[in-house]
Amino acid sequence: MKILVTGGLGFIGSHTVVELQNEGFEVVVIDDLSNSSLQVLDGITAITGVRPYFEKLDLKIKNDVKAFFKNHNDLAGVIHFAASKAVGESVNEPLMYYENNINTLVYVLQEMANLDKQNFIFSSSCTVYGQADELPITENAPVKPAESPYGNTKQIGEEIIKDTCKVQEKLNCIALRYFNPIGAHPSAEIGELPIGVPQNLVPFITQTAIGIREQLSVFGGDYPTPDGTCIRDYIHVVDLAKAHVVALQRLLSGKNDSNFEFFNLGTGKGSSVLEAIQSFEKVSGKKLNYKIADRREGDVISAYADTNKANEVLGWKTELTLDDAMASAWKWEKKIRNK
Ligand code: UD1
Repeated sequence: MKILVTGGLGFIGSHTVVELQNEGFEVVVIDDLSNSSLQVLDGITAITGVRPYFEKLDLKIKNDVKAFFKNHNDLAGVIHFAASKAVGESVNEPLMYYENNINTLVYVLQEMANLDKQNFIFSSSCTVYGQADELPITENAPVKPAESPYGNTKQIGEEIIKDTCKVQEKLNCIALRYFNPIGAHPSAEIGELPIGVPQNLVPFITQTAIGIREQLSVFGGDYPTPDGTCIRDYIHVVDLAKAHVVALQRLLSGKNDSNFEFFNLGTGKGSSVLEAIQSFEKVSGKKLNYKIADRREGDVISAYADTNKANEVLGWKTELTLDDAMASAWKWEKKIRNK
């Protein structure tokens, strides 16, 4: 069965391509290479023994999207990762974010309407919940006004899919709301490749430990949490990737309860920034240079998933720990710096 993965050379996309190929799917990857590199194909091939079919494609160019789907009218499903994801950048470049994340989604859905099989998995985010009133966060928690254009594109994306599913009966969609994806493939053949100064915690930790950054700033030490630092639900990217395969199989076998479903993907366990640092220090054997700094604007205090729906309905749960994720992120960092 042929599956299209858009943004398939990105961080979560590449790990999902691996898991799809491990399950025997034929994978077609498209990526515009704006935030990824062709070498990722070598990593995927090294792990799975299969080089996926690849086309460089910019989903913003509607005619190219049309031509692509015309050539690939035998797709059994689409997993749509292609999007921009830097929160700060989205505040400065809102229109770029709406074009990259919304136009492309619309074009893909328009072309999918011509396929026999219309199974679609969408990358959403726990950011749709904002600071939830109750923890852990269930799928019934209200969607809060977005803090950034990036967050808004995820909310609008879900709305677009919901509205389309109402009128397009053949279309079956699952939106997956990720908590904090971290780590790398245990083989260290693929991982996260942030361009410039990393905005996310774990790449900043590993780059500090390897000597690229001098010191990690822990954003806020006076939050109302046990150790004063923010709490997040860090999920190993390999567990996250496997959830996409399970969600796709649910659609392919027609087991979905409605044609638009959504699931939280997290571990269910909240960890503070200091706990994340401790985990890194434990698995790497290195002391991390960090200091407590001012709070970062837009950060919620605490967010972790209620995983019951994903566990029971999808039949998926995480298998890897925070320590596993930190160890894999560290192995990856050392590999890409040749250390
Ligand atoms: C961020 C985005 C979220 C997005 C996700 C994608 C914001 C406000 N949220 O989540 O919308 O879906 O990335 O990956 O940007 N931290 C430090 N020092 C650092 C970096 C981070 O202390 O140098 C702390 C943060 O304050 C936070 C935690 O580490 O408490 C995790 O931060 P980060 O990795 O950026 O993820 P989120 O902010 O949770």
